[in-house]
Amino acid sequence: MAGAAELLAGLAVPAVLVAPDGMPVQANLAAENFLNASQQALGEKGWSAAFGADSDVERLVARARREGGGCAAFDLTLGFPGGRQARADVLVSPVGEAPEWLTVAFQTRSVATLVERQSLQKGAARSAVGVAAMLAHEIKNPLSGIRGAAQLLRRACGDEERELTDLIVTEVDRIAKLVDRMESFTDTRPLKLRPENIHEILGHVRRVAEQGFASGLGIQERYDPSLPPVAGNRDALVQIFLNLLKNAAEAAGPEGKIRITTAFRPGLKVRGAAAAKPVSLPLEVRIIDNGPGVPPELGDHVFEPFVTSKRGGSGLGLALVAKIVADHGGVVEHERLVETGETVFRVLLPVARETRG
Ligand SMILES: Nc1ncnc2c1ncn2[C@@H]1O[C@H](COP(=O)(O)OP(=O)(O)OP(=O)(O)O)[C@@H](O)[C@H]1O
Ligand SMILES: [Mg+2]
Repeated sequence: MAGAAELLAGLAVPAVLVAPDGMPVQANLAAENFLNASQQALGEKGWSAAFGADSDVERLVARARREGGGCAAFDLTLGFPGGRQARADVLVSPVGEAPEWLTVAFQTRSVATLVERQSLQKGAARSAVGVAAMLAHEIKNPLSGIRGAAQLLRRACGDEERELTDLIVTEVDRIAKLVDRMESFTDTRPLKLRPENIHEILGHVRRVAEQGFASGLGIQERYDPSLPPVAGNRDALVQIFLNLLKNAAEAAGPEGKIRITTAFRPGLKVRGAAAAKPVSLPLEVRIIDNGPGVPPELGDHVFEPFVTSKRGGSGLGLALVAKIVADHGGVVEHERLVETGETVFRVLLPVARETRG
């Protein structure tokens, strides 16, 4: 078994070696972390050291031994003592040269896609930074010149021409506003994060929305009252949820319905590209609308700058959301709920570490 054991130790995927009597005798480091149980505890108490008595994994291993081959369960929700949950594919396979020995590997799929998404969003945000910095610099100065010139002309001309100079001024102002928005990307200073109450922020965003673009829309809230404070920057978080709510309102239309929900999901961990330790992103905020959904051809490109399906849209709303969420070390994603025909934008954020004294 030495060969299999060595192989196991070198694997980054959580994997466990099972002896012919069904006992998990060796676990690699990734498995010890994932199962939150040491190799020794597993060897002594069996699978119950990780999952408690009578688990899906134990049953799966029993089946593989009974049937004398490999078997797999996909997208299994694994429950751990203490309430932690994780979703994974569990693959049980016989060891080549000694098929009475088994390996059990855990593929934490949802986490893998989250990591990919997080680093992708960082890339998109970085390229936006370059474009925005250049444009802001090149456009803003001449704009103020054009605006000033139009105002001078206005004094010297008749009513008919005034309409034209006014048009210049309002259009220049619109461009200046756009450039201002883009400049938010050029700020690469690290955000100052402190403990914030996410419900208070959502309440504020909701009030702002109802005064403006979401007036008359029914916005429902379903909050998890036990949610701990987020490690966040208040202004930045307000910006995220305003942008998401605005998109939801635009998608749902005047008769539409929007829901805001929060939940605490402790097992969710994301390992960034450089970070050695996986970060936990247990705070979940969802903005849900009953509009027609993100156009399928846009997919995840909606988080890139200038991607828009709206006439007059700048396509910067979600790019900014992606940047700010990445600055928080969080993740944003969207999905379509098939059963209810709703669109969900989900933001996952870290908890503020307890500060005592
Ligand atoms: N809730 C949603 N439902 C359906 N599609 C959406 C939703 N949110 C975003 N989208 C799609 O993603 C695109 C990009 O959104 P984003 O907020 O980045 O830009 P925009 O809303 O088009 O313009 P801006 O926010 O700058 O006014 C939208 O044009 C739309 O096609
Ligand atoms: Mg938008």
